[in-house]
Amino acid sequence: MAIPDLIGCSPKFRAVLDEIDMVAPVDSAVLLHGETGTGKEVVAQAIHAASTRRQRQFVAINCAAIPASLLESELFGHERGAFTGAVTQREGRFQAADRSTLFLDEIGDLPLELQPKLLRVLQERQVEPLGGNRSIPVDVRVIAATNRDLWGMVQERTFRADLYYRLNVFPITLPPLREREGDIPPLVIHFVRKFAERQGKVIDYIPDEVMEALKSHHWPGNIRELQNFIERAVVLTTGAALRPRLAELRMQTTSAEVRTMADAERAHITATLRETNWVVGGRGGAAARLGLPRTTLIAMMQRLGLSRDPAVSGARQPAQHGAAGHAANWPVSRKSPEKQEGNYSPAPLEPWTTANLEGHLVNVAAAGYGSSPAGTGGNQSRCAGSRGAGETNPGRMVSPSSFREERIYVR
Ligand SMILES: Nc1ncnc2c1ncn2[C@@H]1O[C@H](COP(=O)(O)OP(=O)(O)OP(=O)(O)O)[C@@H](O)[C@H]1O
Ligand SMILES: [Mg+2]
Repeated sequence: MAIPDLIGCSPKFRAVLDEIDMVAPVDSAVLLHGETGTGKEVVAQAIHAASTRRQRQFVAINCAAIPASLLESELFGHERGAFTGAVTQREGRFQAADRSTLFLDEIGDLPLELQPKLLRVLQERQVEPLGGNRSIPVDVRVIAATNRDLWGMVQERTFRADLYYRLNVFPITLPPLREREGDIPPLVIHFVRKFAERQGKVIDYIPDEVMEALKSHHWPGNIRELQNFIERAVVLTTGAALRPRLAELRMQTTSAEVRTMADAERAHITATLRETNWVVGGRGGAAARLGLPRTTLIAMMQRLGLSRDPAVSGARQPAQHGAAGHAANWPVSRKSPEKQEGNYSPAPLEPWTTANLEGHLVNVAAAGYGSSPAGTGGNQSRCAGSRGAGETNPGRMVSPSSFREERIYVR
């Protein structure tokens, strides 16, 4: 199984990595909770890969994707003739995951009538395929995931309390991207490198205003949304600088942020001003587009506190720059070291790798991005406050310089 890189070094994400580290080697059930796209499945894979079961295939099943009528047989298997169309005996996912890990995705969608059977299998460690009277012993570690409020479902009696407690032995909550302060830049760089390589492109740097817009976006679809956005941006890019369609973000932000009439006014005027590149008067200006006299628009802008900000929505403030302050561009390539001078300087980062994923560089904290060419200026590229090589858990970290050699430069 290819283990995806887990990128991030924000305090909240590092807490998750610590939890992965703690729970992976023991066989406890894990319940992953988080909004869509926060990485529940990749975290489940990381736990499996760091466990003693890693030699065997990780098995996943999405409880929401399989019709309820088929789910029972998918999970527990069936005997020949168990139901119309069951022409052969078939083993279920529990048997397939014997001595391995079974990932029960979207567990909140497990039909109520199947819940007692799942509980029985988990407690008794044996499955009874449909249509038979055999009991087959299974040794399965279960990791379940949901983006629903499972405890709320227990209160509403749509999810069984006994099953909830059985699954919720070790809960891990994945923070939404908007709460993972400092993680967007390394994720962006990671995805730019990944998709540029895949598409055979050479993208040297990410303009500062692009990074600021990405950082200030709300990302309701979390990492999946960011990843797809960057993939699209790489398709659209023809030169050395990443050129995404920032207007897409603005439109989404606009609709997400509209709450009051003033918000709606602000959002609509800001969007129009951006379309006209903040030209207010004249035939193609925002006032004409909005059907307002120029002076009325100016008065409204003053009332709403609108002033030009090309990168982000009027209602949001971009995150603070690091020590280097505002700068033009942020190189992601060895080829543009000259751009270091006055570059965007994010919070310092440090590489961090989850120890027991032997051989796999799991948590690439995107160390060194944009701050210095390989082997130099190590401290600039460290995660503030995170563990350094040898500080704790000696031997667990990859050294910043070797990391940089291996991971930072796309080419
Ligand atoms: N920390 C991370 N670093 C890099 N990529 C990540 C990280 N977390 C998630 N991703 C990527 O984001 C995408 C979404 O992740 P995943 O499918 O695990 O999310 P999810 O929480 O299961 O979403 P959903 O609830 O919609 O099923 C995947 O392509 C995954 O590789
Ligand atoms: Mg998922």
